[in-house]
Amino acid sequence: MNTLEPVRAAAPVWQGVINAYRAWMPSVTDHMSIVTLHEGNTPLIRADHISGLTDCDVWLKVEGTNPTGSFKDRGMTVAVSKAVEAGADMIVCASTGNTSASAAAYAARAGIKAVVLVPKGDITLGKLAQAVRYGAEIVEVAGTFDDCLRIARELADEHPVALVNSVNDHRLAGQQTVAFEIVDALGDAPDLHCLPVGGAGNITALWRGYTAYERAERASHRPRIWGFQAAGAAPLVLGHTVEAPETVATAIRIGDPASRDGALAARDESGGQITSVSDEQILAAYRLVARHEGIFVEPASAVGIAGLLTEHAAGRVPPAQRIVITVTGNGLKDPDASMLDGYDPVETSTVTTAVARALNLA
Ligand code: F0G
Repeated sequence: MNTLEPVRAAAPVWQGVINAYRAWMPSVTDHMSIVTLHEGNTPLIRADHISGLTDCDVWLKVEGTNPTGSFKDRGMTVAVSKAVEAGADMIVCASTGNTSASAAAYAARAGIKAVVLVPKGDITLGKLAQAVRYGAEIVEVAGTFDDCLRIARELADEHPVALVNSVNDHRLAGQQTVAFEIVDALGDAPDLHCLPVGGAGNITALWRGYTAYERAERASHRPRIWGFQAAGAAPLVLGHTVEAPETVATAIRIGDPASRDGALAARDESGGQITSVSDEQILAAYRLVARHEGIFVEPASAVGIAGLLTEHAAGRVPPAQRIVITVTGNGLKDPDASMLDGYDPVETSTVTTAVARALNLA
């Protein structure tokens, strides 16, 4: 028998977003047990290079440092805790990859089963590897993400499985905490917040968080919200669904956003906009943020940066704004994207002087 007392930490340990912000989540009750991987508390890092390019004060909220490598964990802790409270022993989600990794991890943590529906052949290696290792039941659907979401909803309607896509309001309750952390760190809301938009749960939750904090007078104002979609998957820009969405940013290859209304409300109530960027612009931002800020993100996560730089080039970004950009997921999720450019190693023998010569040091 293990009789060891848990070691008491010398400093308070971050216990996850529910523990930090439960007062803002009415559905979380004191007696519920919390399924957490200590998500949240992600770094807000000044982007010196991008600030210089835009004459603004630009900060990156680096969500790739969450336990499964994306912002999805903020909402998953709430959704899975609530599912367990309700007695579920199986959760289901549709995903372009990150939601499935997160659902699989939190299900493993809770000791329940996760079923993840993904578009066959369209999710990145890192994300698939996560779902496999956490032990999810993986269903590869011969269709798009939008097909997967329809099936997941129908399964949850007709069978005893809990749907944990962000149509589940508990997900949004958790995801809004990103806005709380930003205001708590900066002392007030920024002027402008840029982020990628796919199914649009994240932009909906972000706006909800800023709104809650402003109402409680934790912030003096709410930022304008600029959402960006990939040009080949831009239903909110075009104003209609896209049957066959296509973009290098596979995470946001979505033609029919479930949280469309929330996205349009965030845009309109904030005096913001939702526009699109090309795959070339996405990949340029993806390279830039790694090379010049030291932050490796997946292509979809560079979309907010691509958008800001595009708007700046068009003369539409006033100087001296304080801007936060959510970079939503870790670059290791998509190793193939990084290798698209190839690489050029220095090849040498095992002799140090030969290495020095190859490096032009000698
Ligand atoms: N960035 C990343 C890395 C994502 O994985 C997603 C969505 C988004 C941005 C867009 O967020 O959908 O709330 O507008 N990924 C979902 C998934 C669809 O299944 O992992 P959104």
